[in-house]
Amino acid sequence: MGIHELATENRSVRRFRQEISISERELLRFIDSARLAPCGANLQLLRFMPVTETEHCSRIFPALKWAGYLEDWNGPEEGEKPPAYIIIHAPVGERRHIPVDAGIAAAYIVLAARESGYGSCMIMSFDVNQIEEAAGTPHGYHPFLVIALGIPAEKAVLEEASGDIKYYRDANDTHHVPKLALNEIVVQAED
Ligand SMILES: Cc1cc2nc3c(=O)[nH]c(=O)nc-3n(C[C@H](O)[C@H](O)[C@H](O)COP(=O)(O)O)c2cc1C
Repeated sequence: MGIHELATENRSVRRFRQEISISERELLRFIDSARLAPCGANLQLLRFMPVTETEHCSRIFPALKWAGYLEDWNGPEEGEKPPAYIIIHAPVGERRHIPVDAGIAAAYIVLAARESGYGSCMIMSFDVNQIEEAAGTPHGYHPFLVIALGIPAEKAVLEEASGDIKYYRDANDTHHVPKLALNEIVVQAED
């Protein structure tokens, strides 16, 4: 699959086949792609924690906040929760480049996962203290971004945004993601 096709197919997934696990080995393959990603000054400050054990996953889950636009939905139910996570950690006090580096690394991870048939969702709304404790964050680091991973149990489709960019679910429970058209995001130099 080429990069454009991967990007087209790779919608954020929030309901998973919880009973289908992902091995740590597979997560390490995705992390290995992130290892090769560009990063500011090649400092390579981020640390990636693979989480696959059921008990570890169930400790992490309660700290996560899902789909802010879906006001009537409190996140995946038992049976649809993510069977794996990769938690991107950043050094405490280190600010330079971190958000950009983490975003690039996360993009490499989710595209590598998608290429292998997995769905994912990047999550930045979480209780930091709760994740730190649940994950077992190494000393000197804090959790910066959580990526939930698994086999999708929901259908998510792209559509062209006509004004409203909020994602929503239709009557068939399909998740719709409105994206702006190319000509709406391209700018030209002003005279
Ligand atoms: C930096 C970042 C933070 C995000 N945080 C959350 C989050 O806390 N909870 C959630 O359900 N989705 C989160 N998402 C997923 C976005 O809601 C999703 O990418 C967006 O709705 C577009 O959908 P798409 O990924 O299918 O294109 C996050 C995505 C990014 C890139």
